[in-house]
Amino acid sequence: MAKDKTHFSCQVCGGQAPKWIGKCPDCGGWNTMVEEREQTGRGAVAQYVETPKSRPTPISDIKGEGEHRTQVGIGELDRVLGGGLVKGSAVLVGGDPGIGKSTLMLQAMEALANAGGRVLYVSGEESARQIKIRGERLGAKSAGLLVMAENTLEEILISSSAVKPTAVVVDSIQTLFTPTISSAPGSISQVRECAGQLVMYAKKTGTPVFIVGHVTKDGSIAGPRVLEHMVDTVLYFEGDRGHAFRILRAVKNRYGSTNEIGVFEMKGEGLREVKNPSEIFLAERREEVSGSVVVSTIEGTRPIMAELQALVTPTSFGNPRRTAIGVDYGRFTLLLAVLEKRVGLSLMGQDIYVNVVGGLKVEEPSVDLGLVASVASAFRDTPVPYRTLVMGEVGLGGEVRAVTQAEVRVREAAKLGFDRCVLPASSLKKMPKVKGIELVGVEQVDDALQALLG
Ligand code: TYD
Ligand code: MG
Repeated sequence: MAKDKTHFSCQVCGGQAPKWIGKCPDCGGWNTMVEEREQTGRGAVAQYVETPKSRPTPISDIKGEGEHRTQVGIGELDRVLGGGLVKGSAVLVGGDPGIGKSTLMLQAMEALANAGGRVLYVSGEESARQIKIRGERLGAKSAGLLVMAENTLEEILISSSAVKPTAVVVDSIQTLFTPTISSAPGSISQVRECAGQLVMYAKKTGTPVFIVGHVTKDGSIAGPRVLEHMVDTVLYFEGDRGHAFRILRAVKNRYGSTNEIGVFEMKGEGLREVKNPSEIFLAERREEVSGSVVVSTIEGTRPIMAELQALVTPTSFGNPRRTAIGVDYGRFTLLLAVLEKRVGLSLMGQDIYVNVVGGLKVEEPSVDLGLVASVASAFRDTPVPYRTLVMGEVGLGGEVRAVTQAEVRVREAAKLGFDRCVLPASSLKKMPKVKGIELVGVEQVDDALQALLG
């Protein structure tokens, strides 16, 4: 009998080599090459792609049916998906182990089943009983929610084809296995093949498929990034395990914007939607603390307000420390240079720490002025007035530049009871008056600090 042909493939990037080597020639990873048997004949994929031969068609002749969107029924999830679940789409849900992916998916399936649909939740990690126990905590009891503990890809596809659900969840891709490939579940060729077939199944049958994937230590889904371009939508579920907040973010979406985020809170009885994130992110703010400033960031169509905190302490020895969490580090050091040069703060001998409360990331230039104000407030040990919103981009000359959608931000602040907003003079000019909030236009960082710290 002829010997099976094998090759070695990198478990990180998918690069291949005929012989074992210590270092992957493609990604440079060490000890990532694993022996895999070559696939012979046509794989199972062929079964699912034997659709009528496609031929080039003028775009004007193609019937546009619009996108068939199904509302999942969880507002924050629907928003991130771009307004609902599109027929035949493959959605990858990635995140650290334990962040709440299975919980989110089970809740989403329950919501769909509750609305009268029939859905299939397949778990390769938990037994049906374990899923039941989790479901009880989440209040999942609809008869339309079908549960299956299985990790053979073919079995899943056969069951799903029989059930014809409105959506399928496969939790997780790392536990999936197809016998057409000899390597172990979780290896790159298994992950790639299984995901490929699931995507194919989604396209062929029009069934939306959610693929759950654990993120590895270096931040890529399933080791390989291959998955990301196979699917239509990539959602990341993020958050600190120490915090209850979870943020669902679209990093790729063929059917919508990637700017939207969904905010959830992990509770004893599952994930709860956070309809007004600003309130939550500002909930534990204390009055009269120096270094605390409220900034506003636009996520998709929504303004979200967050608290920035700075701490400035004299350096005890050596180089001063600079630490920034939740803001862009390059931007942070640039703004410190502006404070030194244009405002004349002597920060040389100071350690500076900046943090965004609640594990949020604020990376748009409109938070520049808030960052500058929080460092100045901490340095002078003078608090910024409690109900004041600060926004503005800061240029290297110390000038305060216009921000986008200033009015939306101001209205959100007014809604939450803020009574003052320091904003760029150029943004103020284009804005109508907003009831209940005093608007202070500034042109220079100096003026802003004068208005905030006196
Ligand atoms: P899980 O959805 O299993 O995470 P993943 O699938 O991403 O690995 O969530 C696990 C964590 O969520 C676990 O630490 C417990 C917590 N949790 C709650 O706090 N409340 C709940 O109702 C549930 C189901 C989980
Ligand atoms: Mg899980």
